Amino acid sequence: MTVTMRVVIVFLLSALLPLSCSHGQDPFAWLYGPQSQRFGSLQADTTGGCPDECDCPPSFPVAMYCDGRGLTVMPTIPSRVKYLYLQNNAITAVSDSALVNATNLEWLMMHHNQLTSDAIGKKAFMQLQGLERLYLQHNNLTTFPSNLPRTLRDLRINHNKIKKVMYSADLEGMDNLTILYLHDNAVTDMGTSLKALKSLTLLDISSNKLTKVPEALPENLHQLYLESNSIDSLPEGFFSRFTQLQYVRMAHNQLTDKGIPANTFNVTGLVELDLSYNKLERIPPVSTTLQHLYMQANQIKEFTLGSFCSVMDVTNFSKLRTLRLDGNEITRQDIPTESTLCLRLASSIEV
Ligand SMILES: *[C@@H]1O[C@H](CO)[C@@H](O)[C@H](O)[C@H]1NC(C)=O
Ligand SMILES: *[C@@H]1O[C@H](CO)[C@@H](O)[C@H](O)[C@H]1NC(C)=O
Ligand SMILES: *[C@@H]1O[C@H](CO)[C@@H](O)[C@H](O)[C@H]1NC(C)=O
Ligand SMILES: *[C@@H]1O[C@H](CO)[C@@H](O)[C@H](O)[C@H]1NC(C)=O
Ligand SMILES: *[C@@H]1O[C@H](CO)[C@@H](O)[C@H](O)[C@H]1NC(C)=O
Repeated sequence: MTVTMRVVIVFLLSALLPLSCSHGQDPFAWLYGPQSQRFGSLQADTTGGCPDECDCPPSFPVAMYCDGRGLTVMPTIPSRVKYLYLQNNAITAVSDSALVNATNLEWLMMHHNQLTSDAIGKKAFMQLQGLERLYLQHNNLTTFPSNLPRTLRDLRINHNKIKKVMYSADLEGMDNLTILYLHDNAVTDMGTSLKALKSLTLLDISSNKLTKVPEALPENLHQLYLESNSIDSLPEGFFSRFTQLQYVRMAHNQLTDKGIPANTFNVTGLVELDLSYNKLERIPPVSTTLQHLYMQANQIKEFTLGSFCSVMDVTNFSKLRTLRLDGNEITRQDIPTESTLCLRLASSIEV
């Protein structure tokens, strides 16, 4: 393949990006990497020019690539730019005026910089009326940035040092926010900050300092990641209020049998439940629709088949495919033979 062809293909992919809606791992992470430097000295010929330290591909003039260039200050941003790549630099501040001309921004990638909360202007992001993606992960933020645009759909602020998230100021009215990454911060309490985020489907608050689950969580969540906190209990009926919830991860917490009301996890719809590395002594009752259950490294002392099937016949059986029970206090001999009738889809049970 010639270099020109490759460049054209990259540009075509870039043009398609805004249409894609990625969940979880970003499938286009490669595009933000060093590869973007292959644009070399090609510069856009469009109004507003291109700062020397960045690349503006002529065939995709709405994008500006300034990533991985050792920048310590914000470049000037031509107003045509919609997709701005500033990650992997050493930028320390975003002043109130740094983004005044960048009114068309839809994506702002600022992860892996040296931003501190004090150095972000209170109004820095406010005028970005069309901003949909804001990546601020791996910086040195200690508080939630103020006045974020309500248009956001994807906000990643993981791997900072944030202690608090306050509802009214921080997230109120973000009706389209779908993805919120808050993991690897120092959050001790979320209050009711997330309740009104009616579009939120993916919430990752793992690796924080929560001692209880957030009081009010949006009801449309599909994925809830709470692992590596210090949660020891769950309120009555906690999971039954979510109608769409499929993936729950609570590994590496302090959960005990006493802290879990009966039938907490027996909710239809759940596909995957990770309770590994807790202090559970019994397998909690789960719905027959659950497919993957991770319970390794607890203190399980007996294999209770009734946790999976309360009745067993031709039509009543568990849909469980993965069951991990290794690192507990049971052996293979503790699994009764009739379990093959209930757990007929489980290809492997690890003990
Ligand atoms: C914004 O645009 C004005 C007018 O073109 C220019 O004078 C100013 O330097 C720009 N500011 C930034 C931060 O880019
Ligand atoms: C950000 O945090 C890192 C690691 O804790 C530290 O080395 C660096 O000096 C901090 N930068 C600023 C601007 O505070
Ligand atoms: C959410 O998205 C819809 C449809 O794209 C749009 O009309 C609406 O203004 C957005 N809401 C906010 C708060 O940005
Ligand atoms: C789960 O709840 C249903 C009713 O919603 C009940 O019929 C079933 O027995 C429960 N499963 C277990 C394993 O307790
Ligand atoms: C499961 O067992 C119950 C009670 O024996 C029965 O009413 C039901 O039809 C069975 N099948 C399913 C799919 O629930």
